[in-house]
Amino acid sequence: MTGFNRVLETRVFMEEKLRKMGEDACGALAKAGSLEELNGIRVRFLGKKGELTQILRGMGGLSAQERPRIGQVANEVRSAVENELEARSATLKRLLREQKLRSEGIDVTLPGVPLLRGGKHPLSVVLEEIQEIFLGLGYSIAEGPEVETDYYNFEALNLPKEHPARDMQDTFFVGEEILLRTHTSPVQVRYMERTAPELPVKIIAPGKVYRRDDDATHSPMFSQVEGLAVDRRITFSDLKGTLDLFAREMFGSKTKTRFRPSYFPFTEPSAEVDISCVMCGGNGCRVCSHTGWLEILGSGMVHPRVLEVSGYNSEEVTGFAFGMGVERVAMLKYGIDDMRLLFDNDLRFLRQF
Ligand code: DAH
Repeated sequence: MTGFNRVLETRVFMEEKLRKMGEDACGALAKAGSLEELNGIRVRFLGKKGELTQILRGMGGLSAQERPRIGQVANEVRSAVENELEARSATLKRLLREQKLRSEGIDVTLPGVPLLRGGKHPLSVVLEEIQEIFLGLGYSIAEGPEVETDYYNFEALNLPKEHPARDMQDTFFVGEEILLRTHTSPVQVRYMERTAPELPVKIIAPGKVYRRDDDATHSPMFSQVEGLAVDRRITFSDLKGTLDLFAREMFGSKTKTRFRPSYFPFTEPSAEVDISCVMCGGNGCRVCSHTGWLEILGSGMVHPRVLEVSGYNSEEVTGFAFGMGVERVAMLKYGIDDMRLLFDNDLRFLRQF
């Protein structure tokens, strides 16, 4: 045999061995039943001491020209085996998962558990609506503390100690002179103190308030929105126009308002405002106790003393103010007959909004 023939023979022989090894490996992979088995096959054929390495050891007998050819075949065989390995591994994993699901009795075709989507609380919806209406009229939003001093909650609002009107607003005391505010009216004073003598003042002040009250239409904690407008020549008709527009925006364009004389120490004159009954339109029904009217807020022209303690000259400026209960507005708007429903967090109730 010439040297050339011997090399040729070795090369052909090696190529055959490589291809045969590739076929053996793929054959074994096709039969493998577990991932462990697959790994065993990988080690046996492609591992450091595996068959591929063994065959390539024989390259020593090849000439420098022949080696690349064998190297190429070896690479082809290796990637063919690797591809097969990957495909088989994916198939096996799928089969195993399906088997597991079957044995655990999981039916993947059943509809899933729906994710519950939260919604806004009816009080938030109503509060946002109130705010939108007044923001549209050029008011801005002001806030004050819920833990308030006797001075801002009462004294500065023309409710000195021993004033009988304090009785209607008994509250929770944190200290001798510190209490949970009974209304949002103190924000009027706090705000004007900061801005005086700037004009105009046009704010609403939403927030929580507290009172010693608890029944179907009163809660120890509830929410109010205060309104305040101060400028030169503000009149009672400005107050009427503003609240009339608010009522129509909030409760529908047919809503009428009625102003009844009333008393608040921090306004003079004062008025309580009713709207035509949202249920019967004014004809009289159970909701409006057959009067055709529903009370929604207190209001009036800011008392000169309140303007003065807040830093405004009551000879030069006038103002109107009002305060409404957000729960009451929500109850009227949605026909809710028990305020406690708003605080129970019962989803059967809350889902209706
Ligand atoms: N603060 C009063 C209350 O809680 C409501 C109120 C009445 C507010 C008249 C006002 C007002 O601003 O002018 O009962």
